[in-house]
Amino acid sequence: MPPKQPEPTSTSASLGACTTQLASGHTVAIPTETVYGLAARIDIPAAIQSIFTLKERPSFDPLIVHIAELEQLKGLVAEWPPLAGILATAFWPGPLTLVLPKHPSLNPAITSGLETVGVRMPNHPLTLELIRTTGPLAAPSANKFGHTSPTRAEHVQQEFAREIENGDILVLDGGPSEVGVESTVLRVTSDRLEILRPGGVTADQIKARLAAEGLDMSVETPARNDRRSPGHLEHHYMPRKPLVWSLDEKPSQTPLDTTAIAKQLGLPTAAKATVLTLNEDPRLAARELYHQFREADSSTAEFIVVRLPRSKTDGLWSAITDRLKRAAQLQWPLPMPDQIP
Ligand code: TXA
Ligand code: MG
Repeated sequence: MPPKQPEPTSTSASLGACTTQLASGHTVAIPTETVYGLAARIDIPAAIQSIFTLKERPSFDPLIVHIAELEQLKGLVAEWPPLAGILATAFWPGPLTLVLPKHPSLNPAITSGLETVGVRMPNHPLTLELIRTTGPLAAPSANKFGHTSPTRAEHVQQEFAREIENGDILVLDGGPSEVGVESTVLRVTSDRLEILRPGGVTADQIKARLAAEGLDMSVETPARNDRRSPGHLEHHYMPRKPLVWSLDEKPSQTPLDTTAIAKQLGLPTAAKATVLTLNEDPRLAARELYHQFREADSSTAEFIVVRLPRSKTDGLWSAITDRLKRAAQLQWPLPMPDQIP
């Protein structure tokens, strides 16, 4: 997939200003095809520390390191198994993070003391150009910990108004993120692949690539193992208002009892809801998801309901439903005990 041309939507810092900001140990919000990241230089420990402080992120949640060319893996990973090479060739630049043994020289604060590091090459021309100049950049999503990830420069502005105002963060505006949900986090060993977080590259895409290489290997998904990314908690990606995840056979033909939902949330029965119906095309649904969360958050409604057909579970839908499940306070209709995922 060739990098798309960005369409800046507001005043943006220049690449030169961003390079200087990073060299002085400060952070830059960078556009990527998944979501905006809050980036710092991996060789400046105080800058890495400031990511955790600005985001109010617990130190147990490791950061992904972003590169622009394969040579930048030197000093990041201790091993580069042939399988990693195959996946990087197939999906980079793109929404796939590979978790590999970390290089001993890499600052352990980046990996939260783990022996592995997550690396990815994002597919955005401005960010790739920046990283070619600065070297690898550690970047989590540019939101306060647990909150909805930003997919536009304006979202970063809303999230970090004060920190941008006082110069702690510069924003590089690269237009709306094309994919809209975070990267797939994939743990790679010589004989095993495990998806720790579903994301922009689907399990089927990975399997198809392996099959094309003549490799007969299973791809473990979160439903089939308990291991997941350390920071990918049960409650994550949350808007400020209560969000309800509603599953129906056919949402367009099923009335929704918002009064009963309000009651279940402990709100007055007359509480107003914003009801979001996702696009049938998962690529469009993913692209708009976080923007829709934020629009609903700034509306006059008191809670948000996202309606989804029960059948939407495969491919990119697995990343979308993963985010909805974690962003939601409530699933509706209330699941029977044996249906709770
Ligand atoms: O699309 C993305 O991945 C975006 C953009 C900015 O690249 N980044 C992002 O970062 O979503 P963050 O920090 O919000 O989520 C990264 C996830 C976390 O759940 C973290 O636990 C996991 O990746 N992760 C990072 N390093 C890991 C490691 N060594 N082992 C297991 N999980 C890791
Ligand atoms: Mg995040």
